[in-house]
Amino acid sequence: MVMKVLNFGSMNLDYVYQVDHFVQEGETLSALSQTVKAGGKGLNQSIALARAGAEVWHAGCVGQGGAMLRELLRESGVHDDYLCSVDTLQGNAMIQVNRTGENCILLFGGSNQCMTETQIDEALSHFSAGDWLVLQNEINLVPLMIEKASARGMRIVLNPSPYNDRLAEADFGKLSWIFVNEIEAEQLTGCKDPAAAWQMIHVRWPKLSLLITLGSAGCMAWLVTENGVLSAAQPAFPVKAVDTTAAGDTFTGYFITCLMEGMQLQESLRLAARASAFAVTRAGAAESIPTRGEVEQERDCIQGRESFCFG
Ligand code: RIB
Repeated sequence: MVMKVLNFGSMNLDYVYQVDHFVQEGETLSALSQTVKAGGKGLNQSIALARAGAEVWHAGCVGQGGAMLRELLRESGVHDDYLCSVDTLQGNAMIQVNRTGENCILLFGGSNQCMTETQIDEALSHFSAGDWLVLQNEINLVPLMIEKASARGMRIVLNPSPYNDRLAEADFGKLSWIFVNEIEAEQLTGCKDPAAAWQMIHVRWPKLSLLITLGSAGCMAWLVTENGVLSAAQPAFPVKAVDTTAAGDTFTGYFITCLMEGMQLQESLRLAARASAFAVTRAGAAESIPTRGEVEQERDCIQGRESFCFG
């Protein structure tokens, strides 16, 4: 079944530095290597959606130096009809990746902060009730996008990352799903415990479904349906991490695609976790995202021998 999803999202040039350890305050550290790769939460999620099998349009801003990002979206099967060109430096990220594959990221918004109401209206005019809108918080005008997409009856998924004060203007009551990690869940609710965070969210926004990713501990989800709330938990697949960058974005793209396909909650979490596990075994952001074929193949293979396949 062909799915239709619009992703308003960031596109970054990722300047990736392999390091022995994350640089400390006041320290000068030599990197072990440096590469420039395609990334940005929005772009990564669009590519994950496309590789999972969804039909996705990416709306964002291409700035100076960003032509290769547009090219990669096209090559990955993402529609680029609603991309705009702006005369500003391309958004970028400085990413340190340490010896255990963990990262820390410094963002520069650049072109990702150049969305306009005209661009939003033009892109949304091609979508209608039942279509999906995916948003992250690396771009400007997220609250306005939520307002306008909700008025069209679209199903809206927000990954409020990086979490900041600008989100105070966003009406979470108009979202279908919110995807957070455990830190963002605490920022949003004040609760460290995922189940307590869910209770807070459910009381405040009763129609909002929630996904919390917990790193190597896996993830938990609560889906609000007409007949009540379904919940599920999924452990992470054990893998030897090379680079965790875009693991969450891979999860997001796969999980949304599974939901759009009408897959059961537990099975959707499982497939998304497998895709995400695959991504952490490869370096880079967008380039680490597996195709559906790779994930399905791994699925057959890992059922009895998870550590063999990913270890
Ligand atoms: O989620 C990973 C992404 O976060 C990186 O590709 C980087 O660009 C930042 O946006």
